[in-house]
This record gives sequence, structure tokens and C-alpha cells, in this order.
Amino acid sequence: MQAQQPIPVPKETAHKWLVSLLNPNEREESLIELSKQRENIENLAVMLWHSTGIMALLLHEIISVYPFLSPPNLSAAASNRVCNALALLQCVASHPETRMAFLNAHLPMYLYPLLNTTNKSRPFEYLRLTSLGVIGALVKNDSTEVINFLLTTEIIPLCLRIMETGSDLSKSVAIFIIQKILLEDNGLNYICQTYERFYAVAQVLSNITQQVITQSSSRLLKHVVRCYLRLSDNKKAREALRQCVPESLKDSTFANMLKDDATTKRFLNQLLTNLAETN
Ligand code: TRP
Repeated sequence: MQAQQPIPVPKETAHKWLVSLLNPNEREESLIELSKQRENIENLAVMLWHSTGIMALLLHEIISVYPFLSPPNLSAAASNRVCNALALLQCVASHPETRMAFLNAHLPMYLYPLLNTTNKSRPFEYLRLTSLGVIGALVKNDSTEVINFLLTTEIIPLCLRIMETGSDLSKSVAIFIIQKILLEDNGLNYICQTYERFYAVAQVLSNITQQVITQSSSRLLKHVVRCYLRLSDNKKAREALRQCVPESLKDSTFANMLKDDATTKRFLNQLLTNLAETN
């Protein structure tokens, strides 16, 4: 069967939705339509950013769930609604013409309270995953500015906690963000600057490795190996890693999971070579 071609949304329809976003009675409906069709609306990010009042009301949507975060009391409907608003923010965060403006306005900070929740219910899981998706979209296209901004915030401990306690999907996005941070020189230096930071990251990576043994998520394993390998580029971290890389990465525990993944196998071998080097 052929994949369905996306049908571009006519400009007039998109405009109509943007205008009805401004009307509180029509907002919920247009949030649904816009987020559903966001891939099929040309330049949606630019329109959202430059239309008067739109960014303010998206922020308002986000802030209005804060009172329900603690004590946790978020309905499925409220979660869906704010997640639609977040999907539109993600659109702004991914677009090359709006990304820097999004960052300079410090908008990622408004998501941190949503990421700082630990409730396991579906509305909260969905909220964390969607919020992480916005940060994931920011770091996807390698950009030193994005990473440097994130390093001035507390995103790393938030990601580490989600890597410990989140659903598999959130874990993958959180470790993807950590990996992107590590791959930037400033990010690697930041994490390796103190033993506490390094150890916090290495400890979570080790716990995830342990989890991969029982749940065989090859996606998580890929990220774990890449993160360890990158840490081993730092001289001090390399020495510490000799003690704290899990044995399961050194023996044949994952041989079967990696048998069709030449890239990760190569990264793992490189990691073990780096750790064996005496220097
Ligand atoms: N402000 C904390 C620090 O600078 C942030 C932090 C907590 C952190 N845990 C971390 C940073 C782990 C890097 C890695 O240490």
C-alpha cells in the first residue's frame, strides 16, 4: 500500500485557526486542529511567532496547568490541551527561523516545572514526554548556542531523573538530550567539570544499562554506548570510567542485541579500547 500523501492545509484555513486561537471559546478546538496539522501548514512556526498575541497565549496555556502539578491533579483533558499547545511550541523550537528567538526569550524555562513532576499517571507521563519533545527538537540540529543556553539551566538533572524514573519513551528522549549535550565540547567539559556531575551521569547510565539487560531496548543501548564513549574523550572521566562502566558492556551480554548494529558495535569497541589504553 502506498503511504498517504499529506494534504497541505490552505493558507486561509490556517489563518482562520490562528484567529480563533485568540478567542478563548474557540481556542481548544483550534489548538487541536493546528497541532494535528502542524506538519502540513507551510511556515506555521513563523506565523505563530509573528502573529500578535499567539506566543503569549501559548505560554498562558502552559502556565495555567502549574497549579495542578503539585499536589498532582491533572485531568486527561487538561493534559491533552496543554500538550497541543506544547506541540505548537515544538514547531517554533524546530524551525531554523524561529529557534534562536525562542531561545533568547528563555521559553524552554517554562517547561521545566512540567518536567519536574514525578507522578506516574498517564496525563503526567504524556506531559513530560511532550515537554521533553520540545527540548529534543531544540537540540536535534546541532547548535552550540542551544547547548550553551541549556547549560545555564537545570535541564541535566531533570533529564537524569526522567532517565531513572520515566517511561521507556521519555527515557529515550531524555538520554538523547544528554547525548546531544555531551557531544558538544562545552557540554562534555561542563559535565566533567566536577566529579559529582560526572558521577551523577555515569550512575544513571549504569542503571539504564542494567535495565537494558532485562528489557532489551536496543534504542536505549545505542544511546548509552554513545554517551559512555563520549565521556571517555575526557581524560579525567576516562580514568573514572575504568571503575564504573558496567561489566555487562565488557562481556558478551549484549552481543546478540548488537549483532545487526555495526555502528553501536564499533562505538562499544572504541569505548573499550579507550578504557584499556594506559595514559
Ligand atoms: N546545578 C547543578 C550542578 O551544577 C546541576 C546538576 C545537578 C548537574 N546534577 C548534575 C549538572 C549532573 C551536571 C550533571 O552541579
